[in-house]
Amino acid sequence: MVGKPERYFVVGCAGFIGSHLIERLLKERGVEIVGLDLDMSKLAALGRRDNLRLVETSIDEALADGSLDRNVAWSDVVVNLAAICNPYEYATQPSNVIKSSLFDALPILDSCLRHDKWIMQYSTCEVYGRTLSSYVPGENYTNPDLFVQNERTTPMVMGPTCNQRWSYAAAKQVLERYVYALGFERGLKYTVIRPYNFFGPRMDFIPGRERDGVPRVLACFMKALLDREPMQLVDGGHAYRTITSIHDAVDAMMLMFSKPEAAQGEIFNIGAGQNELTIRELATRMCEVYAEVTGDVSYRHHPIIDVSATQFYGAGGYEDCDRRVVDASLAQDKLGWRPSRSIDVILRETVRHYYETYGTGRLAEAV
Ligand code: UGA
Repeated sequence: MVGKPERYFVVGCAGFIGSHLIERLLKERGVEIVGLDLDMSKLAALGRRDNLRLVETSIDEALADGSLDRNVAWSDVVVNLAAICNPYEYATQPSNVIKSSLFDALPILDSCLRHDKWIMQYSTCEVYGRTLSSYVPGENYTNPDLFVQNERTTPMVMGPTCNQRWSYAAAKQVLERYVYALGFERGLKYTVIRPYNFFGPRMDFIPGRERDGVPRVLACFMKALLDREPMQLVDGGHAYRTITSIHDAVDAMMLMFSKPEAAQGEIFNIGAGQNELTIRELATRMCEVYAEVTGDVSYRHHPIIDVSATQFYGAGGYEDCDRRVVDASLAQDKLGWRPSRSIDVILRETVRHYYETYGTGRLAEAV
């Protein structure tokens, strides 16, 4: 019998997923948390807590001063969320992406192995790459065996090395295989999570506010709405995504913590299958929700323009995942996880958050 963890070491604790996980863990009784990240600003609102210790440093530094290993030894479970998870970076700084997604994780895994600790390692649904359907002329998603993504049966199909979009997915695929191999050969206790487009407050950053750069689609579209600029649809916005509430995602993790025997030794797809839409549909739904949140119906007709992938991502070799249809039956069967939040519920909460944080709603209140 394996008990529920009480001591959590969360690496990458102040990113989008980490900040929601920490918030939820703090509601549990008898929990102690150590969090490591480069920048703790997303956790600033939590204030000081007796059972939360935040260490603002890099993995390299924590490795060099021995604190990474000490925190692993102290913990019951290590959650590793650290990675550069942003397609713009895959095409513009792929070596950094590979380092943060693969090489930085290796000493954490080795430390978990040495101290016999459970590692919950984040991966990505992007390891599936493109669907087999996308390579078969005229198939048009008629055969689910060629596009529904199952952890144990679906192959991983990525484009050529010169398409640097795959730098992240390939790094995560090797990482998963290393974790799996350590479990197989040396008994590492692991759980791997493949997230399907988790959405919610605090996701990414809004360019020109927290910092500059090109974030993922939700934040790009939010910036366009906040600044009354056109939304940009890459290659027609025909790609599909499956949108999952960050709260449903954290529910899945909490179930894993409470059922370690069911969670360990598994790779889980975590995605809300009912929430699939194209990026073009996402753009129009965000316009509608923004009109509702602001009370300004003109946003229903907010401009949406087409751009090519090269215009948007540069010449570094972008190629899109065409579709991500999740088979989440393993998480349902082993953990009893059933995501419940709809696309509209997710978008209302998220859009409202950004409007209240950065929109004229906040400015009006402040005057
Ligand atoms: C990214 C990561 O690469 C995944 O590993 C991760 O699991 C996923 O986010 C996630 O959030 O879970 P992706 O969905 O491709 O994958 O990233 P986005 O930048 O959000 O792009 C989604 C789609 O929107 C792509 O088709 C992209 O070309 C398009 N897009 C993006 C636009 O049309 N306009 C924009 O302004 C930005």
